[in-house]
Amino acid sequence: MLGLSRKYGALSSIHRPDPRIYGGLMTGIDDVEETPFMTTAQQPLHSGFGAASTAEEVIRGIDLRGRVAVVTGGYSGIGLETSRVLRAAGAEVVVPARDPERARAALDGAGGVGVEPMDLMDPDSVDAFADGFLASGRPLHILVNSAGIMATPPARDARGHEAQFATNHLGHFRLVSRLWPALVAARGARVVSVSSRGIRFSPVVFDDLHFERRAYEPFLAYGQSKTANALFAVELDRRGRAADVRAFSVHPGMIVDTGLARHVPEEVLRAAGAVDDDGRPVRDPARQLKTVEQGAATSVWCATSPRLAGLGGVYCENCDISPLVTAGTEAAWCASGALPGVLPYAVDPWAAARLWEVSERLTARVS
Ligand SMILES: NC(=O)c1ccc[n+]([C@@H]2O[C@H](COP(=O)([O-])OP(=O)(O)OC[C@H]3O[C@@H](n4cnc5c(N)ncnc54)[C@H](OP(=O)(O)O)[C@@H]3O)[C@@H](O)[C@H]2O)c1
Repeated sequence: MLGLSRKYGALSSIHRPDPRIYGGLMTGIDDVEETPFMTTAQQPLHSGFGAASTAEEVIRGIDLRGRVAVVTGGYSGIGLETSRVLRAAGAEVVVPARDPERARAALDGAGGVGVEPMDLMDPDSVDAFADGFLASGRPLHILVNSAGIMATPPARDARGHEAQFATNHLGHFRLVSRLWPALVAARGARVVSVSSRGIRFSPVVFDDLHFERRAYEPFLAYGQSKTANALFAVELDRRGRAADVRAFSVHPGMIVDTGLARHVPEEVLRAAGAVDDDGRPVRDPARQLKTVEQGAATSVWCATSPRLAGLGGVYCENCDISPLVTAGTEAAWCASGALPGVLPYAVDPWAAARLWEVSERLTARVS
């Protein structure tokens, strides 16, 4: 961690943001309190569930009839399982998709999940999706931001933003800001950002978010975007809690048989212990090597568990709030193979506030 801090000097330049900026672009999410610190402790609740729990198990007994959920990426991998179980529990589920036809085919059999077009890399399409949702007059009780890309070849969006940061963070930041009135109208909404243990690859490097002054490295870019997902939950929760909009971030585990690892060579997955010599997924929840059903469980737990009522702004894994990694625990937790816990820079409230401020600027409408 210290090594990362030395490598990315940006960490040392985290500053207390200017509160005047909060009144700007994101009108409505500007309930700034005097101190931006988390109110929920970043430590396990001992939820009764664990690494091997499935999404169906954590939602058992929860009735979501009358609730509306949006699941980005809800037509593939852990997002698909998330959509399926939320729908099965009675929620009306809408999946925004950049390929609606493929999404409808994937969701066939999920009991009537709605599909609408949206590409997170395209701000106009995010706005169009959100406008359509708001026009329907529905409140939004659950928003699971599961869509993501990983370790992609270098690419940028139309504004020049690095593609993983643009898709995984900025697209979702824009979506939440546009859907804000529907989240408030739910009077008790939850927003789940699907982050990753990949936060360990990089903090948010504020001095060079888009790899303009350093060589592009696919996993550094992924790590930065996933740290951004965790920080986003911290600051969204701080701003949202007065309106009863609570936010969580999630590490789902390592689930190799989704679409996410399409840019990762098999030898890298083998070296990580995620696939065996024949290329088959290794399942070992104790080391966070999970099935899709287990991988979706923490998102669903964060979206629905009564244990989390009144809580938020925390990073979760294995269907519980994660412990904070400290210098004293890191070596032992690494040796366990499970690598649990969240690094302090991924839940740092000052970095979270700074990221919000930067993201507002980067997603501002160009006149
Ligand atoms: N699988 C793991 O081991 C793992 C570990 C840690 C974290 N995660 C996180 O879990 C989340 C889900 O991953 P997954 O494993 O379920 O992967 P996946 O099967 O590839 O699902 C990702 C989804 O995101 C969608 N998506 C990608 N770019 C998009 C864009 N520009 N606009 C709209 N949708 C877009 C994909 O749609 P298309 O099919 O159209 O591309 C797909 O539906 C990701 O955020 C990932 O970072 C996964």
